[in-house]
Formats: sequence, C-alpha cells, structure tokens
Amino acid sequence: MIQMYHVDMRYPGETYGLRDVSLSVERGEFVFLTGPSGAGKTTLLRLLFGAEHPSRGQIIVAGRNVSRLSSASIPELRRQIGVIFQDFKLLPERTVFENVCITLEIAGLPRRELRARTWSMLRRLGLGDRLDNRPRALSGGEQQRVAIARALVNDPPLLLADEPTGNLDPDLAFDIMDIIADAHARGTTVIVATHDPSLLERYPHRRLVLESGRLILDRRPDTFSNAPPQTARRLS
Ligand SMILES: Nc1ncnc2c1ncn2[C@@H]1O[C@H](COP(=O)(O)OP(=O)(O)OP(=O)(O)O)[C@@H](O)[C@H]1O
Ligand SMILES: [Mg+2]
Repeated sequence: MIQMYHVDMRYPGETYGLRDVSLSVERGEFVFLTGPSGAGKTTLLRLLFGAEHPSRGQIIVAGRNVSRLSSASIPELRRQIGVIFQDFKLLPERTVFENVCITLEIAGLPRRELRARTWSMLRRLGLGDRLDNRPRALSGGEQQRVAIARALVNDPPLLLADEPTGNLDPDLAFDIMDIIADAHARGTTVIVATHDPSLLERYPHRRLVLESGRLILDRRPDTFSNAPPQTARRLS
C-alpha cells in the first residue's frame, strides 16, 4: 500500500522533517508511527497524502507515485485516504453532520445514501444528538470523534491518523482505538502516529520509530514478547 525510498523532507531554513526514510507498509497492516515530539511523524503522514512533496526520494501510495503527482491527480488520491489531523481541521461554520458528509459529497455519493451513511457513522460514534451543532459547541473529545467520523465515513482503503487520541482521557482513547480497529478489521490499512505509551503498550502492532527525522527502528509484533529485543530490526 505504501513504499518510501530514501525520502528527505527539508523545510525552508535547512530544518529536516525527514532524513533518508525508506519503508514499506503492506495492504491491511496496522502500524504505529512513533517517536518524540519533532521526530517527523506529522511530516511523514503529510507526505503520504500529498500535502507536502519530498525534497528527495520516491513515495508510492496505492500504486501512485505521490512524489510526482500533478495537482489534478491529488483529489483522486485523497478519495482513497481518510485523514485524522492532529488539530482536527473541522469546518467551524458547518454543523457536525455537514462536517462529516462532506467526505461523501466529494466522493459524489447520491444524496440519500450520503445522509444515511453520515447519520449511521455519527450515531456509532455517540454523536447522534449533536448533528446540528457547530464544532465550537463540542468538547475536545467530541470534536475528535467528528474528525474520526469524517475520515472513516467513506470506508477508505487507507487511514492516516495523527495523534487521534491526543486530547482524550484513557477510556475515550481506547474507544477511539476500537473504532479504528473496527475499520482495520474491515480491510482498511491503518497508520496511527502517537507518542502515547499506553496505546503502544496495549496494542501489539508493528511500530515504526522516528527520531530527528530518521527511521531508527521497525519493530514487528512477533518480536515483542517471546524474542529478545535485539531481533527487532535496528535501522541506523
Ligand atoms: N512547516 C514547517 N516549516 C519548518 N519546519 C517544520 C515545519 N513543519 C515541521 N517542521 C519541523 O520538522 C520537524 C518534524 O516535525 P513534525 O511536525 O513532523 O514532528 P512530529 O513528530 O509530528 O512532532 P509532534 O509529536 O510534536 O507532533 C520538526 O523539527 C519541526 O520543527
Ligand atoms: Mg505531529
């Protein structure tokens, strides 16, 4: 589903967001992207959905070379990808319902199906009585759930989630992870950026660890408990 080959992302002023990152994620995998603040997690996710272009290297997402994508091909790519942003990016002037159904409008779904799917997604996330509220009337956790509903309502082949549990108390965080796990069980490839140790402890998924823009560790679930730590693949 994703291949990155020797990717650098250099921001203006010589700050590196990523340095020489190569990795591959198979269709149907669930991967945690982790590492300290400033390690490059958000940068990596933004490259995958074409919000940034790499300074060097190649990125293939769902068979498309994202590093060379024309702006005309970006909407087609984005239809394949649900994104949960670190800061939600809800539309302040739209209602909860409108914030979620916009994904399906862009996908061109018929009106009736669009309403039914939006409604059922929001109900599943416990937001059935918030449909007509504006985002500012919601708590942080509720806004987060709207962002998740918007990312998942289209059943995307790929979900990119940037700290999806960042502002939530532990119970809510695990609820959100259950919803993401549900999407994964239905076939969505999932990448969750997080530095929340309680999530990493609880879910035994593959971990990609970034530090100062470099991928320093790629740890697969089968190396977690039974094997000694040195069987994890050290990358630098
Ligand atoms: N738009 C930008 N312009 C310049 N530098 C940037 C920009 N965005 C990110 N950076 C830098 O790139 C590096 C990686 O940032 P990034 O936001 O990807 O880290 P992160 O792992 O997501 O951190 P956090 O856990 O705090 O969200 C940091 O040094 C950051 O300062
Ligand atoms: Mg980030």
